[in-house]
Amino acid sequence: MIEIENVRKSFGTLEVLKGINLSIEKGEVLCLIGGSGSGKSTLLQCINGLQSIQGGNIIVDGTNVHARDTNLNTLRQKLGIVFQQYNAFPHLTALENVALAPRVVKKQSRRDALDLAREHLDYVGLGSKADMKPSGLSGGQQQRLAIARALAMKPAYMLFDEVTSALDPELVGEVLDTLRKLKESGMTMIVVTHDVAFARESGDRVAFFDQGVICELGPARQVINDPKEERTRQFLQRVLH
Ligand SMILES: Nc1ncnc2c1ncn2[C@@H]1O[C@H](COP(=O)(O)OP(=O)(O)OP(=O)(O)O)[C@@H](O)[C@H]1O
Ligand SMILES: [Mg+2]
Repeated sequence: MIEIENVRKSFGTLEVLKGINLSIEKGEVLCLIGGSGSGKSTLLQCINGLQSIQGGNIIVDGTNVHARDTNLNTLRQKLGIVFQQYNAFPHLTALENVALAPRVVKKQSRRDALDLAREHLDYVGLGSKADMKPSGLSGGQQQRLAIARALAMKPAYMLFDEVTSALDPELVGEVLDTLRKLKESGMTMIVVTHDVAFARESGDRVAFFDQGVICELGPARQVINDPKEERTRQFLQRVLH
């Protein structure tokens, strides 16, 4: 599990996480919603050690992410992360993109890595695109490629940051379908999203971020349909209407 205890994070004098407490259970889908600049992306980056923290602890399966002796490369194999922008290598095919990290980081043989890559491309519905370069894929397909690349490392957790917000509306569904499929497979996920309907339907719990604090945390349907906090209510009114 992932335990986040009183985490504080500043950029210079700007404190963007002001004491975040959260724990994510195995198999849970936790959706993070909240206004621009509230600290959602920063928290994801702190969880996989891309950002330092100034206070508190983040513990992933017993490993303190920010302890001096933590091997971040080993830790990150557990934490697949997919961002809003696509980040595939343009000169490699879809298949080679997915096989790359298992070959380089996990030292898998070329044969094994390519076989597994094919399975992961099939899983995200890109089996027929294995030999295409990323530039030949649609935005939704590129995002699914990014998911396949992350899954190829067999992570225990998947972190998603606004993976559909750069997509044309008609491509959003295919990416969300992949997230739903992952949820059904039991993957533990933290999903930062502006898609409140997705959070309500597919999230187990929702955390509403507001200016560096978690203003409200609860079962997805309750937080979205019947928020307890006035600030959550106001935010949802803005995004839903
Ligand atoms: N590398 C950085 N250096 C300085 N300030 C940063 C950096 N990254 C983020 N910030 C600031 O931290 C605050 C939180 O940013 P963050 O990206 O976590 O917000 P967010 O909730 O993900 O917003 P959005 O919904 O717009 O993606 C913002 O005020 C942002 O300007
Ligand atoms: Mg963000």
